[in-house]
Amino acid sequence: MSRLIAPSLLAADFANLQRDIEMINASEADWFHLDIMDGVFVPNISFGLPVVEAVKRLARKPLDVHLMIVEPEKYLRKFREAGADVLTVHAEACRHLHRTVHEIKELGMKAGVSLNPHTPVSSLEEIISCVDLVLIMSVNPGFGSQQLIETSYEKIRKTSALIRESGCHALIEVDGGVNMNNAPLLFDAGIDILVAGTEVFSAPDPVRRIHELRMAGEKR
Ligand code: DX5
Ligand code: ZN
Repeated sequence: MSRLIAPSLLAADFANLQRDIEMINASEADWFHLDIMDGVFVPNISFGLPVVEAVKRLARKPLDVHLMIVEPEKYLRKFREAGADVLTVHAEACRHLHRTVHEIKELGMKAGVSLNPHTPVSSLEEIISCVDLVLIMSVNPGFGSQQLIETSYEKIRKTSALIRESGCHALIEVDGGVNMNNAPLLFDAGIDILVAGTEVFSAPDPVRRIHELRMAGEKR
């Protein structure tokens, strides 16, 4: 069972981005989680390709890029060229999700599919065997510092059951409202990767908080 930590740069200090990237490099974090928002798919605009390229120049860990954008299929190669190692698209934004997932993999990236809180796990049944990662949104996407939606635990258990019954290898990632209180419960529900933004970057000692989040899974 993986227990990976992917701090979200959405919560970083963009006036001191190199400092925050070096902190993650020096920490026990496994991935950099980059939240790309277009102001259309979600009611917020975050950052784009130039920032991904800049992070890539400094990062010593994989880039886990989360596309909260419409028509993500238009940008797959650009995000690969910018340095994405894992590229996650929203099922709700993809008219031809099967084709998009295969294009991501053909470009040499791991392919993730993300579900908004209202989207049922059953929508993944026909594609679960093709994806490398399922990203469960535990908040309505667009902003950090929100409360985790309590039905997320059952949704994670359903996703874990679907992966097990399908005999495939997808990892489960959760994104939104993750903190030290719910991290153990999320690992119990079957999570492999925790995305945490506010919990990490608002901590007095972010490196220690990343360690504590990882340990939250070990105690169980
Ligand atoms: C929502 C974003 C957030 C961010 C992490 O669209 O994807 O979930 O990554 O948010 P917090 O600060 O709640 O960890
Ligand atoms: Zn995200």
